[in-house]
Amino acid sequence: MKLNKFAGIVFLLLSLLVISCGEPDNKPKKGAKDLPPPKKEIRKSTAANTIKDEKPKTVTTGATPAQLAKAKEIIAGVKNEAIEAVDAKKKYKMFCTTCHGMTGDLNVNGAKDLTLSKISLEESVAQIYHGKGLMTPFKGILENEEIVAVSKYIVKLRN
Ligand code: HEC
Repeated sequence: MKLNKFAGIVFLLLSLLVISCGEPDNKPKKGAKDLPPPKKEIRKSTAANTIKDEKPKTVTTGATPAQLAKAKEIIAGVKNEAIEAVDAKKKYKMFCTTCHGMTGDLNVNGAKDLTLSKISLEESVAQIYHGKGLMTPFKGILENEEIVAVSKYIVKLRN
């Protein structure tokens, strides 16, 4: 009988052990149950993607292939030393601040916010050289190296 009681206690202790060991097993399951919400987050991010889908309009300026080809030609045609010799900040201040402001986010005359701009150097050169909408073309106003230098400068205004 004493042995049976002892065995009973041992059994109880063992089952307690099994239960307590079982708990950590449950925890990962709880963790696994916690995993589905990220799926919801993925859904949220796809919702965010649809918002992003509206943004690419500013990623490209809508420059034509011919305008982009011309921009490539301009970039390839100017030497680095010539670009570095340009006081790009001064040029920007003189020719761009009326609409874009010193920090790039003045947005006067429907000017695009340059701090939010994501366009490539090529697109930028094309935009400045050919102009667009209310933005005047700077062809003949700025030298090619000045256009490239200013295009590089405005990247610094981005957030
Ligand atoms: C007369 C006002 C005006 C001036 C001056 C001006 N811009 Fe703009 N800029 C605009 C407008 C308006 C847009 C938007 C054009 C559009 O998409 O219809 C724009 C767009 C841009 C974009 C495209 C941004 C993007 O993400 O799509 C760049 C780059 C840019 N300007 C650079 C310059 C630079 C550099 C100068 C100076 C050399 C300059 N702008 C001078 C009005 C101006």
